[in-house]
Amino acid sequence: MFGFFRREPKREKKVLPIEEDFSNIEQLILYIKNEIGIDFFNKKDIIKNKLKLFCRKKNIYSFEELLDSVKKDFSLKQEVIDYLTVNETYFFRETKQIETMIKKAKTLGFKVEILCAPSSSGDEPYTIAIMMLEAGFKPADFHIVGIDISETIINKAMLATYRERNLHKISKELKEKYFLKDDKQYILKDIVKNQVTFRRINIFDKSLQNLRKFDFIFSRNMMIYFDYETKIKAKNILRSLLKREGDSIYFGHADMLN
Ligand SMILES: C[S@@+](CC[C@H](N)C(=O)[O-])C[C@H]1O[C@@H](n2cnc3c(N)ncnc32)[C@H](O)[C@@H]1O
Repeated sequence: MFGFFRREPKREKKVLPIEEDFSNIEQLILYIKNEIGIDFFNKKDIIKNKLKLFCRKKNIYSFEELLDSVKKDFSLKQEVIDYLTVNETYFFRETKQIETMIKKAKTLGFKVEILCAPSSSGDEPYTIAIMMLEAGFKPADFHIVGIDISETIINKAMLATYRERNLHKISKELKEKYFLKDDKQYILKDIVKNQVTFRRINIFDKSLQNLRKFDFIFSRNMMIYFDYETKIKAKNILRSLLKREGDSIYFGHADMLN
């Protein structure tokens, strides 16, 4: 009669292992392409393996779950961006275009404003600053804004401390003039550092339009990872940031190839 109150023997709760399923990456690749421009469709296998490692570190069991999470969590999204972007750069990489810009800048007769998009860890905008100072520009005669989508890399740029391998193209004389040596690191001097301001911005973000307009824009070695339509879109966005029609944008040699 009182069987109703009888306790059932406790059963061990079985925790079933969550099964990983990393087969479907298409939606995630599409999201990345729409958000940051980088097209991974023809590098699917490489990106799959890379993101699988990322997911495992975060206890995420599928690319669908990762996609849902990055849509909700901005800092996770930023981590994925930082993880996927290629930030390879160094001082005095491709200086011909900088020399051409400097010749034009000398004819302007007013404070020259330059955008470096993307700046990566600062090597390129700081190179422009060093070359302008060497060409006789006073610090008050020019300013450079460096932008990049990667938070980690922008923090590095603001720190302005570099390893030997970033400086392999600089002459000994300029290295000594513009850097202080500390054990294994080179610390950029303030005279160069103060010429550049950094911001973390995606070039496809609306907030890009809040930046001032520029006399010259450098956009090198970013669009190599974009598909054709995205390159055209990026080019038009950058063009809208020029002060005057006909002002110059300098792209990297491989950027405009499809
Ligand atoms: C290879 S580095 C080029 C740096 C420098 N311009 C140079 O030529 O040495 C490419 C940089 O583009 C940045 N990037 C990629 N997509 C971007 C986007 N949508 N907006 C802003 N920066 C982006 C990456 O974070 C990376 O630091």
